[in-house]
Amino acid sequence: MHDDHSMTTPFASHLSEYVTTAKSFYCMPGHKQGLGAPPLLKELWGEQVFAYDITEVKGSDVLAYPRTSIKEAQKVAADIMGAHRSWFLVNGSSVGIHAVLGALVKPGQKVLVHRQCHKALLFGLVYSGAIPVYLEPVQNLPEYAYGSVDLQKVDELLTQHDIKMVMVTSPNYYGLALNIAAISSICRTHSVPLFVDEAHGTHFSFHEGFPHPALKQGADFVVQSMHKTLGGLYQSALVHSAGTYSQYEDKIARMLSMLQTTSPSALMIMSIDAALDEANRTGRELYGQMLAMLESLRYELNTSNFQVIIPPPGVMSAGNFVAYDQMKLLFMAVSEDFFNLMKLKVILSEQYGIEIELADENHMLLTLSLADAIDLDQTRENLIYFSETLERLVDRGFGLIDEPDDFEDPRELPEFFLTPRDAFYAEKKRMKLSESVSEVSGNMVCIYPPGFPQIIPGEMIHEAVIHQIYHDFHLGFTIVGVDEEDGELYIDVIEESFPRLES
Ligand SMILES: Cc1ncc(COP(=O)(O)O)c(C=O)c1O
Repeated sequence: MHDDHSMTTPFASHLSEYVTTAKSFYCMPGHKQGLGAPPLLKELWGEQVFAYDITEVKGSDVLAYPRTSIKEAQKVAADIMGAHRSWFLVNGSSVGIHAVLGALVKPGQKVLVHRQCHKALLFGLVYSGAIPVYLEPVQNLPEYAYGSVDLQKVDELLTQHDIKMVMVTSPNYYGLALNIAAISSICRTHSVPLFVDEAHGTHFSFHEGFPHPALKQGADFVVQSMHKTLGGLYQSALVHSAGTYSQYEDKIARMLSMLQTTSPSALMIMSIDAALDEANRTGRELYGQMLAMLESLRYELNTSNFQVIIPPPGVMSAGNFVAYDQMKLLFMAVSEDFFNLMKLKVILSEQYGIEIELADENHMLLTLSLADAIDLDQTRENLIYFSETLERLVDRGFGLIDEPDDFEDPRELPEFFLTPRDAFYAEKKRMKLSESVSEVSGNMVCIYPPGFPQIIPGEMIHEAVIHQIYHDFHLGFTIVGVDEEDGELYIDVIEESFPRLES
């Protein structure tokens, strides 16, 4: 490997040196650097992949107790991201969320969480025994599926409850970023650490045109997926500590050594090291060119049925979303007709080879990354092709549905009877979802995409959410947390009755 990389990609450089000098392997893995790997995989992946699939030998360091190249690489990452300490993750942002939650909040202690959080956090609550106080989303950007955060409510809940950590997601799946500086300042007043799930915003550090990174706005802990918007392999991610609550750092490291595999993939670790370096070296210029291109192209992509939407600044600040990520291209259906966008997404994939990030009831979301900035002319052409194809499909009547679903959700606040952990361990019975109104759910139910929980374990099942789930199921969305049998949906509900939890 070229010398000038050894300082900026310490792990990748050390490992490549090791791989090119090592000779006989009487150690794991069983494929022995590819010698015994299935020929099919060697043909498909190439032999080199196996040479680097090695772990915990001299040169690869030990992820759980890093002393050499991983320690150096994590220091490089911390410097790039402006953290006091950073850790490489090989089980996605999910394991970072679990580790920070487990390190900061003891079983039985409370954590303030935005209800539209990722399910990884809710699973974390099951295993850690932390008790959630839910921050209900504020829906003042009705064209988006996600709500923001009411700052006054954060302050009130921190005053009312003995909360040990606040956790919010920013940006959300659609690229809307919260006012982390304001939330952080409230948390500081109450001396409560703020943990930001920035899984979709790892690239924010590399160009000032993106929302300001959470670490730079006063977040105390931040998790970021390397695979979502940068060039890391799937499962690669980072968790950072700003140093403001450095007393928890050793505990986070211990948590990670408990939760992550003892055989971390060097491929993944290398990909974090190299992808961060790549973004750091090329990001400013490439993202700059990309943003300039998008500025002019965005309006050309509008069609008579779909418009690329940009949240208006006034509405944004009123809702405490303060910025959005322009690398998300959000097409919203604007015509008089109604479409099943999930169906159109499937047609685009199967018949045109166009794979998009998500389709929900009103949107199609395209996620762009540094990769799309490499050949801007091609990207521009592909995006125009996408918008023209979408328009053509719609003109030909594909995905057209007769009526919209105009069911009004009458719910005020969801009611909880058990914590996620107690619900997980409680005795359950299976019943038809259609008959489960007012039962307490034993399952977490998510509609994919975008995948935030519609029903949290321990929550009373409301007819509105049942309606929503059946509606989305019939449109072809994936519903996780219910079983399908002969076209009917079943859910696990809690057998015993419990008093309602105080909110
Ligand atoms: C907001 C959010 N947080 C966390 C995660 C989990 O990230 P990972 O897949 O890296 O574990 C996701 C995954 O989609 C997500 O959307």
